[in-house]
Amino acid sequence: MSVSSSVLNYDLKNAISKNRLLGLWRLMHGFQWKYIIATVSIGFAAVAKTCTYLLLRYFVDNAFTEGGTSINLPLIALGFILLAGAEGGFTFLSGRFAAQTAEGVTRRLRNYLFDHIQHLSFTYHSQTDTGELIQRSTSDVDALRRFYADQAIGAGRIFLLFVVNFVALLSLNVTLGLVSVIIVPLMFYVSILFFRRISKAYESYQEQEATLSTTLQENLTGVRVVKAFARQQFEMDKFERDNFEKFNRGKKLLTMHSLFWPISDTLCGFQMVGGFLLASIMAVNGQITVGTYLAYVGLVVWIIFPIRGLGRMIVQMSTGMVSYNRVMEIIRQEREPLDEGDYTPAAGTLRGDLEFQNVSFAYEDNPTQKVLDDITFACQRGQVVALLGSTGSGKTSLVNLLPRFYDYTAGSLLLDGVELRRYTRRFLRSQIGIVEQEPFLFSRTIRENITYGVGREVSEEEIVAAAQAAAVHDVILTFPQAYNTLVGEKGVTLSGGQKQRVAIARTILKNPRILILDDSTSSVDTETEGEIRQALQSLMQDRTTFVIAHRIQSIMNADLILVMDDGRIVQRGRHEDLLAQDGIYRQIFNIQTRIEDELEKEIASVSE
Ligand code: UTP
Ligand code: MG
Repeated sequence: MSVSSSVLNYDLKNAISKNRLLGLWRLMHGFQWKYIIATVSIGFAAVAKTCTYLLLRYFVDNAFTEGGTSINLPLIALGFILLAGAEGGFTFLSGRFAAQTAEGVTRRLRNYLFDHIQHLSFTYHSQTDTGELIQRSTSDVDALRRFYADQAIGAGRIFLLFVVNFVALLSLNVTLGLVSVIIVPLMFYVSILFFRRISKAYESYQEQEATLSTTLQENLTGVRVVKAFARQQFEMDKFERDNFEKFNRGKKLLTMHSLFWPISDTLCGFQMVGGFLLASIMAVNGQITVGTYLAYVGLVVWIIFPIRGLGRMIVQMSTGMVSYNRVMEIIRQEREPLDEGDYTPAAGTLRGDLEFQNVSFAYEDNPTQKVLDDITFACQRGQVVALLGSTGSGKTSLVNLLPRFYDYTAGSLLLDGVELRRYTRRFLRSQIGIVEQEPFLFSRTIRENITYGVGREVSEEEIVAAAQAAAVHDVILTFPQAYNTLVGEKGVTLSGGQKQRVAIARTILKNPRILILDDSTSSVDTETEGEIRQALQSLMQDRTTFVIAHRIQSIMNADLILVMDDGRIVQRGRHEDLLAQDGIYRQIFNIQTRIEDELEKEIASVSE
């Protein structure tokens, strides 16, 4: 189906509305005319059906009643055929347009959600369950698809069927017509009553389903931990508890439904019997003709149908409306403004001088705990700043401020003398290369992982050079398809150290102004670390580099070493200065050299 790009790129934020029906209507932007065609077509089909009964009445009244005018049989037969054809044709047309509407609207919605979720802030993602996001982007979107495919068209159809048949019934006989819809207000009342309850039940059911998919997703990701701790039974019990809860909520939802249908059917049944009874009495008394009676019997079914459908619709619409809310909750979130900021230096002119002045920072979910407290230091292009400190002391948090993953809460951070907040996030991220503490590789080829996010054509030589610099080229060549080997579930499983080195290669290729290595050599042996360090040496030249490491050996040559403790800088200086001071640094150094000495002795004694 070809859809214009303005329809595909429509900003779904426009569909946010307190009035859910209005919101659902706006969500159809660009497809509304298709929806209208679908509804009008089904209306025509309804008219054709109604006309069939009116033709029947004409035929019976004139063919079998004494004194009836002579009729043209072939013409009437043709009429019946044409009406049947029209009904079928319009029904088909309606189904087609309804499908196009439903599939088109949800296709756009799925794309929008995928894009939107990737643009949400780190804070949002660290506070939201992945399972919940998956649930809303799949199951809830599907509920919306059903809403547009069935209920939205159904609503129009029911409305038109009702109006057309009501008018037809009135034209047969006014009293009969009025009696046939006596049930409508009661039906409406009962439906609304159920609508409220089923809405609530469905919402709690969807919530529980999200809980369940979060559990499932977490256990699949952490299956190694589960196995290592032999916690299968514990996890199974937890899953079963969640699953049982879902079962209970599902049962409640079904009970509501199974209560509603008999009630609505009974009401409709009474209505029908009452109508038949009255029509029969009127026919016997000669108040209406036999043709009218027959047409009434046929038509009354087609007015009961929409009345019954009205209840079904109102109740089923609740699922669409609940899902609308759940999806809109995500869409309502503000995207991380990538282009907010008024300062973008000309390409290639960024130096990379940094100055932290009394910078403090706290995460949004815990605003009273200062993760960084009064950080002050400066460094120039070409320098290496090393961060050392116990776990949780704030090292990662500090470097995460630079690409503006998070914004500092107090103080001032200058990049080339300009406040960091004035730079756009997009610019900063194009200039800063991070090798994360736990690098993530996509289930794509090694080559795609290395060239990820470079944003330009890269030659084979460049890729190989980057891999060599990261000391991973030789490893890659041992894989079955070298650089074209798939990473992950369908390909090779990389070791922690190999992953880190692929991530380093990726960052080298990006050629950033500011380089951040967050514990990047923690999972490689000392020899490989030496190789990487040597390769990085040339890379670090002319850039500002941050190195976070636990081994003093890896940071000895840094221009500035910051020792962190509980969000504060407790010691600063070069290796020699710090060794001369009595403090944490010397303690760590002593412990590490002692361990290494002992190791060396052990190795020596074994090899003797
Ligand atoms: P860091 O993640 O900055 O510590 O967390 P670190 O120095 O890098 O630690 P290691 O060496 O990698 O282990 C600093 C503090 O910030 C909190 C953590 O709980 C920790 O106390 N934190 C971190 C949050 O509150 N929210 C986050 O999203 C991340
Ligand atoms: Mg860290």
